[in-house]
Formats: sequence, structure tokens, C-alpha cells
Amino acid sequence: MENIASRFNLTGKVAIVTGSSKGIGRSIAQGLAENGAKVVISSRKQEVVDAVAEEFRAAGLEAVGIQCHIGDAEQRRALISKTHEMYGGIDILVNNAAINPYYGPLEGSDEAVFDKIMEVNVKAPWVLSNLVLPYMKGQGGGSIINISSVEGLRPGFGLGLYSATKSALIMLTKNQAKEWGRYGVRANVLCPGLIKTKFSEGLWSDEKLVGGYNKTVPLGRIAAPEEMAGLVMLLASDAGSYMTGGVFLADGGYMVSG
Ligand SMILES: NC(=O)c1ccc[n+]([C@@H]2O[C@H](COP(=O)([O-])OP(=O)(O)OC[C@H]3O[C@@H](n4cnc5c(N)ncnc54)[C@H](OP(=O)(O)O)[C@@H]3O)[C@@H](O)[C@H]2O)c1
Repeated sequence: MENIASRFNLTGKVAIVTGSSKGIGRSIAQGLAENGAKVVISSRKQEVVDAVAEEFRAAGLEAVGIQCHIGDAEQRRALISKTHEMYGGIDILVNNAAINPYYGPLEGSDEAVFDKIMEVNVKAPWVLSNLVLPYMKGQGGGSIINISSVEGLRPGFGLGLYSATKSALIMLTKNQAKEWGRYGVRANVLCPGLIKTKFSEGLWSDEKLVGGYNKTVPLGRIAAPEEMAGLVMLLASDAGSYMTGGVFLADGGYMVSG
């Protein structure tokens, strides 16, 4: 009888997680590494990703740090080629890094901010996915997991540009799934609710806002970054081998509230 639980095992797989020096990305990288993957820790500063990779190795996990500002074309190419040189393959890409440089109404936003947020939140995952595709095709498959947001599904005041990028990422994922299924490449998207990280500090440090969120959301609380990792561990592994084009929530029920 086949051991079904062993399908979660990622031994021998290579995973790149963008924006994995902290927050959700770091938790995802840890979960993948704990299930056996060799993980590439990546964010904007080499010394920061080196420190995280070192912590992982000290815990018995397999990890290296490769700096990559995902808004920089040269660094994007280097991230993929160096990963391949080091590990000889790329099986999992988690497009997690994102920015939100502007909080306010659409009418007050400017074009430079629009260009920057589109470059990092949409163009970078698109390009990085295209860069890993030849390796995944060559291996006969792979798994791409894009990190969007409930903001990509439901508009919130003050987050219009960010929401538009996260919506675009959802549609990008569906198109990746449609075009690349024939190569055995799966693409899925995770939409977190409100998670306690540096990124969302402006939201969770506002007591009134959190009070309102906790009253509305069925689970009655915001989440910790580790609570996002399980879904990615499933989507990355053979346990999720028939899952592609999916939009998955980890939002405490936010999308069924209100
Ligand atoms: N927190 C939430 O409530 C929430 C909700 C829904 C969706 N999300 C999504 O979850 C993802 C992760 O967010 P988070 O909350 O975990 O944020 P976080 O704790 O602030 O971490 C962001 C990570 O991205 C890196 N990063 C930032 N800009 C980068 C760039 N241009 N290039 C490469 N790396 C970059 C940061 O590292 P360095 O600063 O070292 O570069 C860090 O590792 C994002 O896609 C976000 O939109 C978050």
C-alpha cells in the first residue's frame, strides 16, 4: 500500500522563495526545508539572506542565501542562474516578495508609484516564472506558487493600487496554469488575510482597525506568518499533484464575512 503522507516529502526538490528574509516568505521557506527541500533564501541584501540561511543550516535544514531585488532585471536573472548552478535544478518557485509603497485614494496616487508597484508585484513574478520555466519543462514539471492577497479579490479603502497588482497576479497564475499544464508545471495562488508581519504593521498596530477586523472575521483574529506555510507545502509537493490554477484562501474566513 502506498504511503500517501510521504507525498508531502520534498527531499531532492529545490525551492526558491522570494522575500524570504522575514515574514510569510521566511515561514514558507522554513516549512519547505523542513519537508526536505533545498531552499534559496532571497531578498534585497546578501548579508541578511546569508544570516537566515545560516540559521536554517544550524537547525539542520538545507539552505543558501542569494540576494535579489526582484525589481532588478539583472538580479532576477542571476537568482535563477545561480540557483541552477548551485543545485542543478529548480522545482518550486514561490513568488512572495511584494511592496505597498502607497496607502491612500486612487485619485491621490501618482504614476511613479504605479510603475514601481506594478514592476515589483506583477512584472517580477511574471519574469521570474518565465525564467524558471525552461528548467521546469526540462525536468518534466514544477510548481509555481504566487502570493496574492484577499485584497486581490475584494477592494479595500486606501489599497487600490496594491489590490490591482494582487488581482493581476491571480489572473497571471490562472494563465500560467492554463499554458503550462502540458509541461507538468502547476501554478497556484495563495490569498492571505491579515497576517502579523512588518509589511502590515500599519494595519495591525491600529487598535480600532484590528478590533473591527476581529469582530467581522469568523476566526476572530489576525494570523501569524507560520499559518501561511501549510498550504504552500501542499501546493509545492506531490500531495498537490492534481492542483493547478487554484485560488486558495488562508484568511480566517474574511472572504465569507461582512
Ligand atoms: N502581511 C499581510 O497581512 C499580508 C496579507 C496578504 C498578502 N500578503 C503578501 O504576503 C507577501 C509577504 O508579505 P509579508 O507580510 O511577509 O511581508 P514582510 O514581513 O515585510 O516581508 C517581505 C519580504 O520581502 C522582501 N522584499 C521586500 N521588497 C523586496 C524586493 N523589492 N525584492 C526582493 N525582496 C523584497 C523583504 O526583505 P528585505 O527587506 O530584506 O528585502 C522580506 O523578506 C507579500 O506578497 C504580501 O503582499 C501579506
